[in-house]
Amino acid sequence: MEKKYMAEPYKIKMVEPIAVTTRAQREEAIRRAGYNTFLLDSEDVYIDLLTDSGTNAMSDNQWAGLMLGDEAYAGSKNFKNLRSAVQDLYGFKYVVPTHQGRGAENILSQILIRPGDYVPGNMYFTTTRAHQELNGATFRDVIIDEAHDSEAEHPFKGNVDLDKFQKLIDEVGPDRIPYISLAITVNMAGGQPVSMANIRAVSELAHSYGIKVIMDATRCAENACFIKHREPGYEDKSIREIIREQFSYADGCTMSGKKDGIVNIGGFLGLNDEDLYQKATSLVVVYEGMPSYGGMSGRDMEALARGLYEAADYNFLAHRLAQVEYLHDKLNRAGIPIVKPAGGHAVFIDARKFYPHIPQDQFPAQTLAAQLYLKSGVRSMERGIVSAGRDKQGNHHYPKLELVRLTIPRRVYTYAHLDVVAEAVIDLYKERDQVKGMRMVYEPPVLRFFTARFEPIE
Ligand code: F0G
Repeated sequence: MEKKYMAEPYKIKMVEPIAVTTRAQREEAIRRAGYNTFLLDSEDVYIDLLTDSGTNAMSDNQWAGLMLGDEAYAGSKNFKNLRSAVQDLYGFKYVVPTHQGRGAENILSQILIRPGDYVPGNMYFTTTRAHQELNGATFRDVIIDEAHDSEAEHPFKGNVDLDKFQKLIDEVGPDRIPYISLAITVNMAGGQPVSMANIRAVSELAHSYGIKVIMDATRCAENACFIKHREPGYEDKSIREIIREQFSYADGCTMSGKKDGIVNIGGFLGLNDEDLYQKATSLVVVYEGMPSYGGMSGRDMEALARGLYEAADYNFLAHRLAQVEYLHDKLNRAGIPIVKPAGGHAVFIDARKFYPHIPQDQFPAQTLAAQLYLKSGVRSMERGIVSAGRDKQGNHHYPKLELVRLTIPRRVYTYAHLDVVAEAVIDLYKERDQVKGMRMVYEPPVLRFFTARFEPIE
């Protein structure tokens, strides 16, 4: 029987035309962009799957909220709405707004890390690790081995390997580990979720040594939906109950509202400890703004407060996961090497297996992202060796996963758009032997993937 994918639980009230380009235009555009999809102009992109970050379509309810922005410098009523939404949905006592997720990561890393510390995490995220390292910490990956294997079918591939975590504690001592950074879901592993049982176990182990649990809440609603679908005992719980339980095991969270807040900009730090909150507020005024706006306008805070509630709606989430699964299933049926199972926000192509003849230091994923744009005007993102950057000795990190991410923005594209994407990827796979790798011709010192430039190897 043919599988059914849930139809959109919304209708379209406003449209934004998108560019249909020719091959010649795209050749010129990608050359100008140094073969880095981050450097393309949005006007030159047909279907934009670069990221699900800040690219969401807001609801009429959120747009209405924009009109209620209280733009007072201090004490905006929209901040109170945002704070009470976070308290109600996530259960944190204190909320420090920031301009986006990395603003919260900056403050959190500064207040918790001392030089020489170690921060374990379930795989790294680029900005999260950059802030840890800027504050003198060493990141240690403690995710389960399956997460590094694109073929491994595991329902909770984002889980922490408790033995790896324990080994790090034994090796460096709990005093050198201020917190474990637990991402729900794990972006770089393929948008893979963490089970409630694992969250609970991580929290017990960490707390038994006085180590804090800080969650990266960026896609916490998607994680909750996976728990409802896949974890025995949670099928009848509401998304809101599951979200609350997830955070009941944490001491704090950093949040990029640009994902599961369904807005275009914004974020926050959630905390329970008053002392940490005081420290965070003294830094937020340096880097972001007053503790009652933290880099957001009143109207942005209102849209975020409303978006957090909308993201905790089961129908919204079930459709979102269905869209990702639809694209995943189409590519999988065509034999394209992709990360399995389907994740929460994106489909990830395994570029090493797609272009096995291109060595990793000739950037197979970066090459595939450029080729996909050339073929179809679809913009995707490299998540491999370029994103992983260099170690302290200046050598490339060679991540096991060399991926291209097809990221699906929330409420923006239809299943027909996803058909276009799938067809383009399938065509490229047929021509894979003819493609050569690239060389990097410009590289910035940190977070290089954003602005690095490349040239095709002739
Ligand atoms: N944590 C995770 C898991 C993320 O995916 C991101 C952003 C951040 C933190 C930082 O948040 O962008 O608001 O400062 N991810 C985007 C992406 C950029 O495309 O995956 P931010």
